[in-house]
Amino acid sequence: MSFKIQPGPVARPNRCQLFGPGSRPAIFEKMASSAADVINLDLEDSVAPADKPQARKNIIDAINNIDWGNKTLSVRINGLDTEFWYRDVVDLMEQAGERLDLIMIPKVGNAGDLYAVDALVTAAEMAARREKKIGFEIIIETAAGVQNIDEIAAATPRLHSMSFGVADYAASMGMNVTGIGGTQEDYYMLANGEPGSARGRDMVDPWHYPITRMVAACRTYGILPIDGPFGDFSDAEGYEAQARRSATLGCVGKWAIHPKQVELANKVFTPAPEVVAKARAIIAAMEQAEREGQGAAVLDGKLIDIASVRQATVIVKQIELIEGSAS
Ligand code: COA
Ligand code: MG
Repeated sequence: MSFKIQPGPVARPNRCQLFGPGSRPAIFEKMASSAADVINLDLEDSVAPADKPQARKNIIDAINNIDWGNKTLSVRINGLDTEFWYRDVVDLMEQAGERLDLIMIPKVGNAGDLYAVDALVTAAEMAARREKKIGFEIIIETAAGVQNIDEIAAATPRLHSMSFGVADYAASMGMNVTGIGGTQEDYYMLANGEPGSARGRDMVDPWHYPITRMVAACRTYGILPIDGPFGDFSDAEGYEAQARRSATLGCVGKWAIHPKQVELANKVFTPAPEVVAKARAIIAAMEQAEREGQGAAVLDGKLIDIASVRQATVIVKQIELIEGSAS
């Protein structure tokens, strides 16, 4: 155990991030009235190259003129390997008002990527005399991003959250899969048995490693870990299963690429009343044990100790954050 205390992430709900292409302004009002905690207006892969200039204009107009309520408002810029990203940043910083909260940077591969955007944003912020500092969100979606995740996590205090981007990650890794996230047909274990006999098949999770790696880097540096997109928006069960796995591993939220997915994410990433009640019971039981000079106690026939209180506190803090933002 390090003597350094693990820093806490920014205190705001981030259960669902709803995406929409910057080239489709007709959906912006619908995004604003959705139940998503975070809105991501996209300039990157959902916008065709020829549409980028108009998409920038649409997004700047929407930031300045739509009532986004208490949502966190973010714009995904183009990657640093394109001709578009600097213009995305400059136009946003010069023309979008202070309502913009975050810039999302895709395909981050090392700390230098964040240094470059930070330098540009910092200069533009000073020139525009902006009072509010823009935060960053990034997407971990390349082999390099996973390899260099520790230096990326430590790169800038602007960094609020990291998302795992499953489709680009699969492409970068050369994985033999199609589809955006979820179960992959060829990734399974067979039960032992005679070849040719009926043998049980267990589907396993090919996204487990990068997501767990990302959560560890995020938690070390006080950054919110988020699970990215799930492409088949007709498969609610598949989305929910993926979201539950990510929540179990420590993610605080997941993207929605269709309005149908918002409610699913909010359901999974809002601790259920019985889970909150159990967490509060653990904290109360340990307070009682401490008063009696005990370091451990029994609740419902199970051992609880100080670590149980830390686990329970994560849940209680999360619900207080969500309830606080709703009032
Ligand atoms: N946000 C808010 N509302 C949306 C929306 C979104 N992302 N996508 C669709 N809607 C609206 C539609 O306008 C429609 O509204 P209506 O009932 O008032 O007509 C309703 O939701 C149902 O839409 P549907 O017909 O099922 O979907 P679609 O064919 O219009 O669009 C997608 C489907 C996937 C193209 C669209 O959801 C989309 O562009 N998603 C975001 C993609 C993206 O940003 N990707 C980048 C991150 S991976
Ligand atoms: Mg991507």
